[in-house]
Amino acid sequence: MTAVATPSGEQLVAGLAESRERTLALVERVSEEDLQRVHSKLMSPLVWDLGHIAAFEDLWLVHRYGGQELLRPDLMEVYDAFETPRSERGDLPYLRPGEALAYLEAVRERALGVVEARGTEDGLLHELVIRHEQQHTETMLQTLQLARLEDYSLPLPLTRAATNGAAVGDGGLELVAVPGGPFAMGSRAEGFAYDNERPRHERRVPGFRIGRTPITNATFLRFVEGGGYERREWWSDEGWSWKEEYDISRPEGWTTDGREWRVGRLEPLAPDQPVVHVSWFEADAFARAHGARLPTEAEWEKAATWDQETGAPRSYPWGEEPWAPERANLDQTALGPAPVGAFASGASPCGALGMLGDVWEWTASAFDGYPGFRAHPYPEYSQVFFGTDYKVLRGGSWASRPRVATPTFRNWDFPIRRQIFAGFRIARDERTPS
Ligand code: AVJ
Ligand code: FE
Repeated sequence: MTAVATPSGEQLVAGLAESRERTLALVERVSEEDLQRVHSKLMSPLVWDLGHIAAFEDLWLVHRYGGQELLRPDLMEVYDAFETPRSERGDLPYLRPGEALAYLEAVRERALGVVEARGTEDGLLHELVIRHEQQHTETMLQTLQLARLEDYSLPLPLTRAATNGAAVGDGGLELVAVPGGPFAMGSRAEGFAYDNERPRHERRVPGFRIGRTPITNATFLRFVEGGGYERREWWSDEGWSWKEEYDISRPEGWTTDGREWRVGRLEPLAPDQPVVHVSWFEADAFARAHGARLPTEAEWEKAATWDQETGAPRSYPWGEEPWAPERANLDQTALGPAPVGAFASGASPCGALGMLGDVWEWTASAFDGYPGFRAHPYPEYSQVFFGTDYKVLRGGSWASRPRVATPTFRNWDFPIRRQIFAGFRIARDERTPS
């Protein structure tokens, strides 16, 4: 097994700078009013994310790592995500846009001062802070999507690879086989990973089949038009009550005349692209309607990483090389999703396509700690969310940064949530006829 190299101070400083560039680019064309508005009760005002990113960096890189006093101890509570849930963030005395930008800059100067004075050591806290900011840029994109801003276009480069071709996989209904038996699940012990991805441990899953690609808009539209939201027998009890209470009859952001919101623009529904902004309950109902189910988290990870030839997990579905645009539809902030299965060179060993990128994928599994879990660097990062309330999502979306979207990364949310750039693929036991 190859050793994981410790990143250099220069690499980490470059990572910090690159994350910041994206954060600032996202808000550059948003008015002061829209930065401060609560666009959705599910989301913070965008300006809260800005201050929170700075507070997190001050806490971890300046205070904890650098041993210095906090720049603004008075702000720690307002920017503590756990103390102050999103729904309450609209009324807090947090910084206004100009102040938040100045806070970001002042903290960054302090963090770089600490790097100058004492280097980055193992670099793990710097990596945590880089990825934290990158995760918040995706959260901010969700907010921008829900804000339904008119004519907002992201001022970011178009980087999609030219290899993106026609959709394959029968709209998500074609399944590929994965043999049963043990595989190693979770992140290796070396290098950076979140606490909830460790320790790597052996899992056994019976043979199963999983969608070659996520379910497309066209396939999901057939479900909608075929009475998918009216057939009681396809829904769980909880899913049905949620759907009835909120009068849900199509994915979030779909209009009745065949269009969908795409961060600042209403566009015709793209038939070959993955369905996005569905809740776990909708994904579950779709799967039942097709005599299928959602994959468990272990199945998903095995399909994404397990190499039958070597018996070992790959670092990425396609192998050991890091992400490149022709491998997976990540970091496509200006373009959004691609036709499913278009990135043939990103195939996993079992032939599944698009395991990373395009859309987060709901799994059947609740969020929990792996056997031997140890909270790090603090229990509020993931441990406090363990239990039966949250479902795990895997794989990252078109809006995720490649650094964050690894095949062991675990995202989580409530099964009613639809703000995530989330779709799903279906699965079946090996023996069930299709
Ligand atoms: C992993 C996306 C669920 O947004 O709550 C950001 C990431 N944690 N700041 C979240 C996170 C702390 C987390 N998710
Ligand atoms: Fe955060």
